[in-house]
Amino acid sequence: MCDPISFAIVGMGMLGKSHAEVILNHPSSQLVAVCDLDRHQIDMFCRTNSSVHPYTDYRTMFTTEKIDVVIVATPDAYHKDPILQALESGIKTIICEKPLSTNLKDAEEIAKAAKEANASIYLCFMLRMSPFNRAIRALVKSQVLGSFLHGEFVNDDSYFVPTEYWGDRSKEWAMKSSPIHFLFSHTVDCLRYIFNPREVEKLYSLGKQEGTGSECDYCEALLVWDDGSVIRIKTEWMRKIRTLVETYSVFTFEKAGIIHRSTDAAGPSFLRIDFNDKNVLDEAEAVLQSEGFTARTEIAPKTFAKYSLVLLPEENRAPKSFPSSTYILDYLLGDHTHEESIVDLDGGVEQVRIIEAILQSMRLDKPVVVGHCLDD
Ligand SMILES: NC(=O)c1ccc[n+]([C@@H]2O[C@H](COP(=O)([O-])OP(=O)(O)OC[C@H]3O[C@@H](n4cnc5c(N)ncnc54)[C@H](O)[C@@H]3O)[C@@H](O)[C@H]2O)c1
Repeated sequence: MCDPISFAIVGMGMLGKSHAEVILNHPSSQLVAVCDLDRHQIDMFCRTNSSVHPYTDYRTMFTTEKIDVVIVATPDAYHKDPILQALESGIKTIICEKPLSTNLKDAEEIAKAAKEANASIYLCFMLRMSPFNRAIRALVKSQVLGSFLHGEFVNDDSYFVPTEYWGDRSKEWAMKSSPIHFLFSHTVDCLRYIFNPREVEKLYSLGKQEGTGSECDYCEALLVWDDGSVIRIKTEWMRKIRTLVETYSVFTFEKAGIIHRSTDAAGPSFLRIDFNDKNVLDEAEAVLQSEGFTARTEIAPKTFAKYSLVLLPEENRAPKSFPSSTYILDYLLGDHTHEESIVDLDGGVEQVRIIEAILQSMRLDKPVVVGHCLDD
């Protein structure tokens, strides 16, 4: 039998603890050490998990312990240093919470160091494991819906997030991040996943401060893709809603329309694909069935789009997707069932490149070409 994979975690806050649970409960992995600046936090954790060694300095942890994989779960702006340090210590596999970094310069520095060290970095983007996003991707890939024309994707948090989610630390946390880094990172990665191999070519964004102290509390952007299609994306963390998150997307194709609601602030989650032509529905249903999805057919004779395929969460169970170490660990152990949902270093850098362009366009109040400003 192979030795278990030895893990260490840097950043034992909300996400670090979820990753720890995954590692501790997996038969082929062991958690050897954890690190956090907050001594109290890790002492409490290690008291109930006595085989795990606590550290407040990741440099010491990396040089003292035998570590196969490091999980970096520090706040958004603090991923670079532990990653560079892990690479320097010879660790070859790193799992990093999204986003890779909050600016392109850091992302490129990380990429250069990882390539020189011949190391692998995987990013945690859980929307790729949502069954409905996977179903939309399968339909796009099959081309049965005809050309993709345009769409919109909304990913919002409630006001609870920048004000109370991290307790007393919330304001400081929010000031160092923004819905652009925290939520658009998911949106951008999810759209690159669904519409692969298309890439965002240029964009125009508009953002607004609304009082949390972050650079931006609300942002909309128009993404123009290299096939000419356009997607409007919107995010905020100011919504006065009961639930934490609200996410929905609408996509218009030549032969069909898609509506996807993935959280239940305004009703249960579902994916619906509407058609005028029953033959196109039959082709789409065959694609979904071949990928293991269950879709119900609905007929509404008096409406414009008479035929629909409806996918419900209870009939399309998700593999466990949160935290993302769940399926990245399976991947590292040789199970490549969800390989398309794995985000590698290049995917992490591309996502940051688009976020950087969104920030640049918002600051300049001008459209920008991804990768360089139009003024350049
Ligand atoms: N909270 C969520 O819902 C959520 C969801 C998905 C992804 N993420 C991502 O996960 C990451 C972590 O988020 P979180 O909510 O767990 O944050 P958190 O603030 O709860 O935890 C971060 C921890 O990192 C520690 N830390 C900071 N600098 C450190 C350093 N130099 N050395 C060691 N420890 C250090 C902090 O003390 C803190 O305990 C972020 O990038 C975030 O975007 C969070």
